[in-house]
Amino acid sequence: MGILENKARARLFYKYLSTVYDQVNPFIWNEEMRTEALSLLEFPADEEPMVLDVGCGTGFGTEGLLEHVDTVYALDQSEHQLEKAYAKLGKRGPVRFHRGDAERLPFATNTFDIIWSSGSIEYWPDPVRALREFRRVLVPGGQVLVVGPNTPENLVAKTLADAMMLFYDEYEADRMFKTAGFEEVKHKFMGPNYDPDIAITTIARAPE
Ligand SMILES: C[S@@+](CC[C@H](N)C(=O)[O-])C[C@H]1O[C@@H](n2cnc3c(N)ncnc32)[C@H](O)[C@@H]1O
Repeated sequence: MGILENKARARLFYKYLSTVYDQVNPFIWNEEMRTEALSLLEFPADEEPMVLDVGCGTGFGTEGLLEHVDTVYALDQSEHQLEKAYAKLGKRGPVRFHRGDAERLPFATNTFDIIWSSGSIEYWPDPVRALREFRRVLVPGGQVLVVGPNTPENLVAKTLADAMMLFYDEYEADRMFKTAGFEEVKHKFMGPNYDPDIAITTIARAPE
């Protein structure tokens, strides 16, 4: 397990990274990628869906979701990342912020139509546990979309990456999502021009 797949260490890491996150982030996760990922979700036209962003950080994914819905619930375990998000989106504006853990969501069963999580799964010590928790708070047939880092092909880069955090391919993503009880599991690779397969996005549905 990578050194950052530990909640306390990830919190400490983001205490410092939060100060430069919005400057560094666009090199690996940019607006074009976010638009591509958002296009994989189905936003119902007739009613406002309940949407949750897990590991919202400074609110980059949340801002994309707000292009499709009026209100987003957003959760992160880092108070430092959340402070940055409040500064951009307002503490009590269109986003209902919560500080909490992806593995223990403070929401009732069958609450959300859509759960989005970008760039956070790689820090979770037990991703299947968190995905089971997503399934619990999703309504039957609800959609989940998770953007994670793709496994590097180069052995040295892979060894270094694995020492830091979780990297996975589509086979491991399939295993994790299906073990957590999701259906219709599909994957898409995306990335900036210089590395078009840097990220793996998985989309799936909770059983009806
Ligand atoms: C790379 S940032 C992604 C932020 C944002 N989603 C985006 O798209 O830019 C990862 C975020 O996941 C959060 N995180 C890591 N582990 C978490 C956990 N167990 N529960 C909730 N948030 C977590 C971190 O605090 C950090 O803000």
